[in-house]
This record gives sequence, structure tokens and C-alpha cells, in this order.
Amino acid sequence: MAVIGIMSAMHEELAAVLAEMPDEQRVVAAGRDFWVGHWQGHSVVAVLSRIGKVAAATTATVLLERFQVDTMVFTGVAGGLGSGVRVGDVVVASGFVQHDMDASPLFARHEVPLYGRACFDAHAGLSAQLAKASAQVLHAAELHLSRETLTQFQVSAPRVHQGLVISGDRFVSTNAESQALRLVLPEALAVEMEGAAVAQVCHDYQVPFAAVRTISDRADDMAHTDFNRFIREVASRYSLAILSQWLADRQPD
Ligand code: ADE
Repeated sequence: MAVIGIMSAMHEELAAVLAEMPDEQRVVAAGRDFWVGHWQGHSVVAVLSRIGKVAAATTATVLLERFQVDTMVFTGVAGGLGSGVRVGDVVVASGFVQHDMDASPLFARHEVPLYGRACFDAHAGLSAQLAKASAQVLHAAELHLSRETLTQFQVSAPRVHQGLVISGDRFVSTNAESQALRLVLPEALAVEMEGAAVAQVCHDYQVPFAAVRTISDRADDMAHTDFNRFIREVASRYSLAILSQWLADRQPD
């Protein structure tokens, strides 16, 4: 049976996932709690990714080595960079670049040394499934967000985007920083702190990987405002609904 690794960036999100797993068992490895069980008939290992590239890479490696995960999915939040990528939208990654990788002049900027590439692609089939599940969830308006929440975060008619996600060990929270990222990586739709690291690990192990991120902020001077509340009231609901829809559409194998 396929084993699906679910890496969540947020406690609330993981708690919601665990509530859906009737038989989860905790296994501790590398100082992390891995939750092994089933969700909608699928064999699943769920874990908090932790924050930043190294922590997420360790978590991914343990999932692959110790738990023999053969499909990897990441859910969390990200800062929107692309024009039209708004708070409350969902970005499904088509590929990942480490925006803070720079071994120039030995290698081109952003190229990961000895890989001959800057961009690690998400698995196309898996990404298409997540994009479909995201669209179904957003259009069905089954998230039950209160009017007050929608107004506070100015979420209206949320959309699903697919494209480049960039990662680095920095929470981007100034207009100047996000503008600088747009200049060097104009195709980037969103910025976060883990995806490109997990993509590189999954590339090494030849395991399909895809990621879905809810846009929590615009990576600008306002990025930190009500961040935790957004995660609690909006993003964790999105993640649960999207993953649940994705698993419902997927045949257990
Ligand atoms: N995750 C969510 N928002 C982010 C931001 N602005 N920068 C980096 N990671 C993020």
C-alpha cells in the first residue's frame, strides 16, 4: 500500500488532520512526533515540518528513510508575491527555487551546486490533483468562514494559482524585500521557508512531491499582522478541506 507523507507547517493544521485519523500512533524520531495511521482508507504519516529549510529537510528525510513514504505532500501558508495572488488565495507549486541560494561566481545565482539546476519541479500529476481539490473546495464555499473573518482578512472570491514557489530562511516582511525578490525571480507566485528544501530531498529519493499553500500575507510591511489568527481561522480550515477532498478523489492503493 502506498504511504502518503503529510507535512504540515502549522500546529492547528496538524491537529485538524490528526482528528481525522482514527488510529494514529505516535512514533518519535529525530526529536519529532510522527503520526502513523489511516485517513479515508489511505496509509498516512503526518508530521509537523518545523520551520526553515534545514528543519524541513530533516523531517522529509526521516519520512522517506524511516517510514518509507512514497508520496509527499506539504501544506502551509505563504506570502503572496505574484500580482493577483491575494490573501486567502491558494498557490499550488509547480516548482521550487531557494531564493537565498547564491554560490556565485562559482555557480549561477540560485543554482544548487552539483545539481545543475535552480528549480526542482513538483510532481505534475500530484500537483494537478491538489489544484483540482483546491478549486473544488474554494468553489464549494464549504469552508464555513464567518463574515467577520472574511471581512477582517479581506478574503473574497479566492482563487487557485499554479506556479513557482520560492523558499528561504527568512520571513519576508517588508515591501523592500518582497520587491527585491520580484526583481530577481519575477515568475515567483509565493514565498515561504520550506518547500524548495523538501523538493530537493524528494528529488534525491525520486519520490513525488507537491505542495499547497494558502496565502496569509503579501510579504510586505503588513505581513505579520494577525498572522496567527489567520492560520487558526482560515489556513488550517483550507488545508484540512483540500487534503480531505484530495484523498476522497484518490483511489487507495
Ligand atoms: N510564510 C507565510 N508568509 C511568509 C512570508 N511573508 N515570508 C516567508 N514565509 C512565509
